Amino acid sequence: MNRNDFPLITNNNIIYFDNGATTLKPRCVINEITKYYESYSTNAHRGDYKLSHITDKLYEETRNKVKDFINAKNSKEIIFTKGTTESLNLVAFGYFLNQLSPKDEIILTKSEHASNLLPWYILKKKLNIVIKYIELDSNYHVSIKQIEKIITDKTKVISLAHITNVIGDIRPIKEIVKLAHQHNIKVVVDAAQSIAHEIIDVTDLDVDFLAFSAHKMYGPTGVGILYAKEELLQNTQPLNYGGGMNSNFFEDGIINYKDIPTIFEAGTPDIASILGFGATIDFINKIGMINIKKHEQDLKNYLLKKLKELDFITIYNEEADAPIIAFNINNVFSQDTAIYLDKYNICVRAGNHCAKILKSLISINNTCRISLALYNTKDEIDLLINVLKNYKNIYQEIL
Ligand code: ALA
Repeated sequence: MNRNDFPLITNNNIIYFDNGATTLKPRCVINEITKYYESYSTNAHRGDYKLSHITDKLYEETRNKVKDFINAKNSKEIIFTKGTTESLNLVAFGYFLNQLSPKDEIILTKSEHASNLLPWYILKKKLNIVIKYIELDSNYHVSIKQIEKIITDKTKVISLAHITNVIGDIRPIKEIVKLAHQHNIKVVVDAAQSIAHEIIDVTDLDVDFLAFSAHKMYGPTGVGILYAKEELLQNTQPLNYGGGMNSNFFEDGIINYKDIPTIFEAGTPDIASILGFGATIDFINKIGMINIKKHEQDLKNYLLKKLKELDFITIYNEEADAPIIAFNINNVFSQDTAIYLDKYNICVRAGNHCAKILKSLISINNTCRISLALYNTKDEIDLLINVLKNYKNIYQEIL
């Protein structure tokens, strides 16, 4: 990987540490999007001319690349959505709305992102189901023991992030799925924060549903994936109705639907971004997830070591598994720290990071979050540390 592959880094001289929010895009992905608009720019699955066949072919090739990337059994199990949020909403309202009964139980954690909580809260209101939270360990990690404690014969779903976006813990998904399936419970995995950092093999994990976004893995915005086992998709209702997903319809309102996955992709999708996503997967495969992970783990350990040397910093997740560190300068509002770092072209995220009930556990409303990616370097971390060391001037600099 060459940092020059990323025009935003080379053109703007920035240090980008907000990869949990979105990643920067390599030239090959940008080129693929431009190529679509300049060279074929046709709709998918609608035309009978040569240009539209190019689009159709590339569109389905991307679906296949996604299938191989996560080792799904069949490309029918790969649905293009707008992002992780839409994927999780499709799981809740397309599948579970029709499967759950009053008093059924859903298991979540308090460190989930809003997109893996709010759909379940709405479902709770609609169906009068019960939401239970796994008690987290002292380092806010999930243990199988705590899940075993709250499973009952009413438990129907466990829905949790593979990696959480503030604590950065990696959940033992394979063990959780094994336990869940022994009790006939379905497992939904929010892989938004793990897809760019971990090898994900849905067949090995045996997960029922898995959601992620292209833009957090060096791909374009506007594209997400819902993976689900074929038999579950066959029992999922689409949330969008219109062109592309029906094979016929009649004036009395009878609709004949296309098969999965097309039934879930009504309307013209974000074709340019989907084709750009194909280039993204090639880009990651070329570097290799093992190499990405090794680099990011080295960086995370280095960052932690350096931050721990600063006695004016509080770190909230020293035991993070993933390259995500949440911290504050003591007695400085996290947004002020982010604005101060921005003066030096260092981009971090500050706030509650859409994990709004986590604060009841970590007893702090807002943190600064550094989330690393494959293009970050130790030199960038050294620069960050030097800027933090001069924080005494923070209010002169930002006011
Ligand atoms: N979910 C994204 C984040 O954690 C936006 O920053």
